[in-house]
Amino acid sequence: MAQDPSPPPKRFYVTTPIYYVNGAPHVGSATTTLLADATKRFQRLRGANPYFLTGTDEHAQKVADAAQAARKAPQVFVDEVSQRFVETWRFLDCDYDRFIRTSEPEHKAVVGEVFRRLQASGDVYLGTYEGWYSVGDETFYRDSDVDERGFVRESGAKVERVQEEVHYFRLSAYSDRLKAHIRAHPDFLLPETRRNEVLAFIKQGLRDIAITRRTAGWGIPVPGDDSKVIYVWFDALINYLTATGWPHDPNFSTLWPCDAHLMAKEIYTRFHATLWPALLLALDLPLPRHVIGHGWWTVGGEKGAKSKGNIPRAEDVVAYLEERSHAPQPICVDALRYYLLRDIQFSSDTEFSLDILVARYNADLANDLGNVLNRVLRAKYFSGTIPDRPDESDPTLREAARTTVAAYQAALEHVHWGAALEAVWNLVGATNKFLDERKPWILAKNGDTKAVHDTLYDTLEATRIVALLLSPALPHAAREMARQLGIPDFAADGCWEAATAWGGLVPSTPAGEPSPLFPRIDTKTAVAPAANPIKEKSPPVNETSTSPAAAPTGDTITIDDFARIQLRVADILSAEKIEGAKKLLRLQIRVGENDERQLVAGIAESYSPDDLPGKKIVVIANLQPATIRGVQSQGMLLAATDADGRAILLTPEQSVPAGSKVR
Ligand code: MSP
Repeated sequence: MAQDPSPPPKRFYVTTPIYYVNGAPHVGSATTTLLADATKRFQRLRGANPYFLTGTDEHAQKVADAAQAARKAPQVFVDEVSQRFVETWRFLDCDYDRFIRTSEPEHKAVVGEVFRRLQASGDVYLGTYEGWYSVGDETFYRDSDVDERGFVRESGAKVERVQEEVHYFRLSAYSDRLKAHIRAHPDFLLPETRRNEVLAFIKQGLRDIAITRRTAGWGIPVPGDDSKVIYVWFDALINYLTATGWPHDPNFSTLWPCDAHLMAKEIYTRFHATLWPALLLALDLPLPRHVIGHGWWTVGGEKGAKSKGNIPRAEDVVAYLEERSHAPQPICVDALRYYLLRDIQFSSDTEFSLDILVARYNADLANDLGNVLNRVLRAKYFSGTIPDRPDESDPTLREAARTTVAAYQAALEHVHWGAALEAVWNLVGATNKFLDERKPWILAKNGDTKAVHDTLYDTLEATRIVALLLSPALPHAAREMARQLGIPDFAADGCWEAATAWGGLVPSTPAGEPSPLFPRIDTKTAVAPAANPIKEKSPPVNETSTSPAAAPTGDTITIDDFARIQLRVADILSAEKIEGAKKLLRLQIRVGENDERQLVAGIAESYSPDDLPGKKIVVIANLQPATIRGVQSQGMLLAATDADGRAILLTPEQSVPAGSKVR
């Protein structure tokens, strides 16, 4: 009987926003791109035929301004800067399928086509705009968004008053359909906190949006009206359609709708979760399956942005790691990929810190991961070839691997690399624990060769699965692990089911030459300030110390000194002991709607962890983060000390929401 034809491979089309080209890519924009890259690699292992789009959006007014300042024609300017993005993605090993540029003729034609169609259907109409426009944010703002001094409340960008004839897109007409779609598809907008923000934003009332501007000589001309150009966001969002071949390529539906748009939160609500789906509805096109917004990397509590000069380029961070670890560049690239993917949060922001990067490098990569490989491959009792499979198999590591694979896969349904990597480290931990408990060195001494072989097989097999799961995120390190294990690289598309099945290592095959994967970084050695890619005002803290106290300048401080300290009310969500630290507790706290963090507090001798969840406390929210006993601490709580030296938490006298200012 003829077999059923196998179903066509699923396309997993991951898009990440394209970038303005008035700056160089930094670790923030690299994070969005890396999330897409690692996800694409994972989907390839699963045989899902993924497609990953990125590129540069080039028509912003500020791009034209930057070109003018550089005394270059805008096209020459964007050609150069766009190339820098290409180079950074190559440097970071990002494997995209298409790099689109919005100055490409093909894209300009598609934008013109969308404009004409919407004009014909009545969704685009001519009117007059009078209100605020921010060139910095390339956004039209309402009066309520702007403060008395002429700055946007949310972003701090300057606004100008404009009055001009513009074309409007009838956004207001899509409010109900958009709400209905969001409600009917609970995982359309992710994470849930952002979905709620979008629903609240729509509830305020969507107003029609100006989509053309008086020409400043740079941008896509409005069809039939050379005096105007298309508003940069309208132009930029349409890149996602251009890349599918719409409207002329009959195969465009193999790519559209995409599975996931990825971006950070500032371009989520207004653009990707409102304007973009409304445009698609107006064009009668299906909506993306998921729109996923991650939080920001912050520096000193502020959004990391190249324009502020507070956030480093990926290349500079890699150079810093190279200098400190003496590891080869691709290994340092993987270490940065690991940190960015592991620590970026979806519902809250994360402080970018070289100290945390180095602590993660040492603890997770050099120590935990290095150990699972080295403890076996370098052991005296390992013969250099894969031992026989145990005939009575011990379920410990097989079960741990099964649980990890399931958790990893579930996390990646929604691109949650932090949770996926945490699951991998559970398997790494279980493998190290297995060795600790089985003590193969003692078994070897006692001459119990069979038990030694059984232990080694299971350990090496778990390590193989660790390497497989790491391969999308840390491709170079995984390749090196595969080499040391004596197995081929995990590049085979669709190998997932077979490769995650327990027992893949073939007995009697020779292992490769062992060598340290991530050489440990010596944190005691001072770093030359010139090597530090973050130009910090204070020296970086090391793994075990907290920030040094500021030198006293006298007995009094000014009100301005005090104003620099952000005191906030926070809710304690959970608390637990830190192993080996008698006085310390690790707390998870909420310091505002989208701001959950962890802090370490020296109150373990005064409070038991069970008494703390639900309490309101006061914290210094903008304290430079520190790593205390290997645990990251983002802030400090306030407590009084009684005569016996016990800590007494400060708490507001009446209930106020988390995030409330304390003055
Ligand atoms: N050009 C727009 C996107 C147009 S999409 C049709 C844009 N560009 S951007 O260069 O400012 O940002 C590029 C990506 O990096 C976005 O996803 C943005 O949200 C993300 N990030 C920019 N700064 C960031 C941090 N500090 N932290 C994390 N991600 C950040 O927006």
